[in-house]
Amino acid sequence: MKGLVLSGGHGTRLRPLTYSQQKQLIPVANKPILFYAIEDVIEAGVKEVYVVVGPNKEQVIETVNSRNWDADIDFIYQPEPEGLAHAVKISQDYIGDESFVMYLGDNILKSGIVDFANEFKKNESDTSILLSKVPNPQQFGVADLRKDGSVKRLIEKPKKPPSNYALVGIYFFKPIIFEAVNNIKPSWRNELEITDAIQWLIENGYKVKSNIVKDWWKDTGKPEDILEANRLVLDDIEQNVQGTEENSRLFGRIYVGEGTEIKNSTIKGPCIIGRNCSIKSSYIGPFTSIGDNCILTGTEIEDSVILGGSLISNTGRLVECLIGRNVKIVRASRIPKGTKFVVGDYSEIDL
Ligand code: G1P
Repeated sequence: MKGLVLSGGHGTRLRPLTYSQQKQLIPVANKPILFYAIEDVIEAGVKEVYVVVGPNKEQVIETVNSRNWDADIDFIYQPEPEGLAHAVKISQDYIGDESFVMYLGDNILKSGIVDFANEFKKNESDTSILLSKVPNPQQFGVADLRKDGSVKRLIEKPKKPPSNYALVGIYFFKPIIFEAVNNIKPSWRNELEITDAIQWLIENGYKVKSNIVKDWWKDTGKPEDILEANRLVLDDIEQNVQGTEENSRLFGRIYVGEGTEIKNSTIKGPCIIGRNCSIKSSYIGPFTSIGDNCILTGTEIEDSVILGGSLISNTGRLVECLIGRNVKIVRASRIPKGTKFVVGDYSEIDL
């Protein structure tokens, strides 16, 4: 089985972070979301992985190639985000006549895909999909199931969802999917929908199997999804403190990278602090991820994600923040007093 991991698209719902960064590279617990997907695919025994890249292709290629993977990784360029089925279409020459797993690079699944992959390899089905019960099915592809649990129909972002079962962004395909993607028309959002391609298989008598995902699954399309994925991943983090600590209190499971100094601070896990950070006179609360090379002084922060290279000083308490790279948030003792911003397009500030 081959692997197709998608890492294109504009990620407009994650602006301003996605002005400078491909959305699948945003870190959750200090690791790019995309890496969780590639790891899952490799763990399922895949030795040939293709990553579909889009607008920020150089960035994605450089980040993926910065790690040694236990598989051959190559890249396929999709210049415009014309839909998931379009990504399948342009990958046909690379996949050839083999089965493959397609994994959306902005999806995170707690328990990986090993069991689902093994079942698909043994099974006679032409496609296998994963479903997860969600409170907001309108925002996903949705499955209409028969009483026996088999799939009757799949609909992309329905106004009146026939069930609460959303399509997880992980699909197992036999090569017949290439015929399906060549037989569908663009949707209202002018994309070739993979949901419509699978619906084409159902209508043409091919076998589509579904499995329900029991553990958590997260599609990280919006800022609140990144924070939620961060909480879910940090919930399982292992204790490993490599930096130095002086006159501080550390509780719970905490990961601290090499070269990081913690002084006169309180840290409550689960949380992760990257390499070469300086944390002074601060409180870092549960479910916080701090990237490499950050400086925090006189700051209280919890339930937040800070990317690398940021400076936060004397700000008071920060909660549920998503802060990009090389950001500076400081309380200065200037006259005249007042709050001063230099903020990028589509930023959000909640005072
Ligand atoms: C895509 C699929 C949708 C699926 C979702 C999972 O949605 O079209 O069927 O439920 O991924 O992440 P999109 O992210 O393009 O809105």
